Amino acid sequence: MENNLKDKILQLKKKRGAKILAHYYQRGEIQDIADAVGDSYYLSKVAKDCNEQVIVFCGVKFMAESAKILSPEKTVILPVMDAGCPMADMAEGHEVEELKKKHPKAKVVCYINSSAEVKALSDVCCTSSNALNIIRNIDEEEIIFLPDKNLGEYIQEQVPEKKFIIWNGFCITHKRVRHKEIIQAKDIHKDMVIVTHPECEKEIRDESDFIGSTGEIINFVNTSSNKKFLIVTEEGVLHQMDSKDNKEFYMPGGSMVCVNMKKTRLEDVYNSLLNMKNKIELKEDIRIKASTALKNMHKLGG
Ligand code: 13P
Ligand code: SF4
Repeated sequence: MENNLKDKILQLKKKRGAKILAHYYQRGEIQDIADAVGDSYYLSKVAKDCNEQVIVFCGVKFMAESAKILSPEKTVILPVMDAGCPMADMAEGHEVEELKKKHPKAKVVCYINSSAEVKALSDVCCTSSNALNIIRNIDEEEIIFLPDKNLGEYIQEQVPEKKFIIWNGFCITHKRVRHKEIIQAKDIHKDMVIVTHPECEKEIRDESDFIGSTGEIINFVNTSSNKKFLIVTEEGVLHQMDSKDNKEFYMPGGSMVCVNMKKTRLEDVYNSLLNMKNKIELKEDIRIKASTALKNMHKLGG
């Protein structure tokens, strides 16, 4: 049944001239049918540079919106329209405007996990894989960083010469990790390597051996000579981890799941392609303004 659906999606994809993109937090079967699987930055580049005129973005809304912002001529489909990111909803345009008024000299750096409206009010976007590069490439001393407090603080620790004004947003999935879970895992497996996404709280990051984006975490684990890893990010990354050489993977509290990332099923991909529905539409004035921040990300973050 599942194979049948996969075949139908692949046929339909050909017919529509579409490219299927999937984030590493997507269900395994979605990652398996995708033309490209990656972290937010990689997928943003693929969406921008691909020749296909139809993109099916299996991820959450800000990812599909970012693709549309940079490629307005392409049809960008989000298979499940209410697959959002609660962190992206933690910063609203009018609040950002207020903060900008209080700090008129600051550059506004927004995490790609933000609405198109917030991107339109920002100078440059970033993802967890390029945030450090981007901040170092900004001349201004004062930075407003939003909406993720944890990524903002993580970057601030590495660029102490800049003054950061950091929003108070967070990821509900990464916030669930308890410090004692990390300590317990370390006590049981002394040889365990802890790999963590920077959206985690400082007390978790401070216990970690490696911190990086989803793509960087997968690359670290797959090329490491260590055998045991505690994976402190969403469980979808396990699908790309190579268990050869008897590598063992553990997760804090059993597992970490982003319910929004898991909303997309094969049926949704099939139906959205069949009916060409769930197209991302943006107000043109917002899109144009937001495109500056994303273009700056690709310029400064490469
Ligand atoms: P990456 O950029 O590391 O893929 O992260 C996206 C995300 O939403 C993490 O929660
Ligand atoms: Fe948003 Fe967190 Fe889900 Fe990433 S894992 S999409 S930040 S809710």
